[in-house]
Amino acid sequence: MSEPKKLYIKTYGCQMNVYDSERMSEALGGQGYVETQSPEDADMILLNTCHIREKAAEKVYSELGRFKGLKAEKPDLKIGVAGCVAQAEGEEIMRRQPLVDLVVGPQSYHRLPELEAKARAGEKALDTEFPEEDKFEKLKNRPKAKRGPTAFLTVQEGCDKFCAFCVVPYTRGAEVSRPADRILREAQELVERGVREITLLGQNVNAYHGAGPDGDMTLAGLIWELNKIDGLERIRFTTSHPNDMTDDLIEAHGTCEKLMPYLHLPVQSGSDRILKRMNRSHTAESYLRLIERIREARPDILMSGDFIVGFPEETEEDFQATLDLVEQVRYGYAYSFKYSTRPGTPAAERPQVDPQEADDRLQRLQALITRHQREIQDAMVGRTVRVLFEKPGRLAGQMVGKSEYLHAVHVSGADLSAGDLRNVRITASGANSLAGEVL
Ligand code: 5AD
Ligand code: SF4
Repeated sequence: MSEPKKLYIKTYGCQMNVYDSERMSEALGGQGYVETQSPEDADMILLNTCHIREKAAEKVYSELGRFKGLKAEKPDLKIGVAGCVAQAEGEEIMRRQPLVDLVVGPQSYHRLPELEAKARAGEKALDTEFPEEDKFEKLKNRPKAKRGPTAFLTVQEGCDKFCAFCVVPYTRGAEVSRPADRILREAQELVERGVREITLLGQNVNAYHGAGPDGDMTLAGLIWELNKIDGLERIRFTTSHPNDMTDDLIEAHGTCEKLMPYLHLPVQSGSDRILKRMNRSHTAESYLRLIERIREARPDILMSGDFIVGFPEETEEDFQATLDLVEQVRYGYAYSFKYSTRPGTPAAERPQVDPQEADDRLQRLQALITRHQREIQDAMVGRTVRVLFEKPGRLAGQMVGKSEYLHAVHVSGADLSAGDLRNVRITASGANSLAGEVL
């Protein structure tokens, strides 16, 4: 048997890219590749890129430049760019960086085996189409090997919302939902491989409307079906849009026992003037009312969100409205970003906020979010949470897992294995995690 070829794959950006990298690695597994953690060993280097924020393309070019020496030493080394930068830049990547042999967009990575063969034959291989065929169907046979207790599963891709700052509708394309039976089959297979928690992924996951046995199914419908799978203990989903938080999904948060009390629901801004300019089609008030209803259904739910500061024309008053909203919601986690221009999006043409002013706002917002985050995490001390253990911690005899609220929890000196689900009494709250003892 010939030596397996080695694949080094580096993943940037969101959880969907993590899932996509897994699938790309599996697709190349069929071509005789095994993964390596070091680019020096690799026969193929694949960068799975993200285009959502700040000079994404520039970062990719500088990363590619670093492989020049490797390629000189090993002329057979193939270098590929996948993901959203590949989609957005296409052929430009090969023009600007001749080291690159292969460019593949997020909707065509099921064609990797052919593209790899083409690159091996010494040709440049490029595919940034939005093909008719279903990539998931082409890649349907996943390996059967045992794996860790948590997994991502893409159920929906793309977005039709066209927020004025966002590249996703252009890089990932129009909203598409996978049929429910295929998702359920994949979930079942993951559970057979040892998975106990599945996070359903989609750029607009709560807009899910995949074909089911009796017409289209909602995300809540899909979650109730997943709830029936024996051995699957936890269900999460991300990322949601406020306008797609349907009644059945809110209700499921109160009644579906495997659905975890954590919800990532980006609002982006607390100012109606800015929300309108962002083309968000909801107001701060409607968002707050929505959260009230979600908390009525599930009082202990931990909220998470995304914010953009320094969106074109944002004034200090607009920014204050964002701080007010954050004060009202009190997020357990929140991610805040300084607006960065994405060429081709509507907001790119508008008057920009002074970068220093935007920096200052970002710091003030992050300070507030961090304060809430800390308070919410510290309030866990003395409480009993249920932890799904995932892996050994850094200290000897320590295991780390996640609570239902997604807090990392460390436990020492207990007889635990990855995949164990235990009640843990929280005894301390550290910088980014909790510590506790198994009951
Ligand atoms: N500038 C800054 N942040 C952005 N996001 C999306 N596009 C931009 C941009 N152009 C943020 C949004 C989104 C998250 C994934 O990234 O907050 O919810
Ligand atoms: Fe981008 Fe999300 Fe808006 Fe869609 S809903 S355009 S993915 S920010």
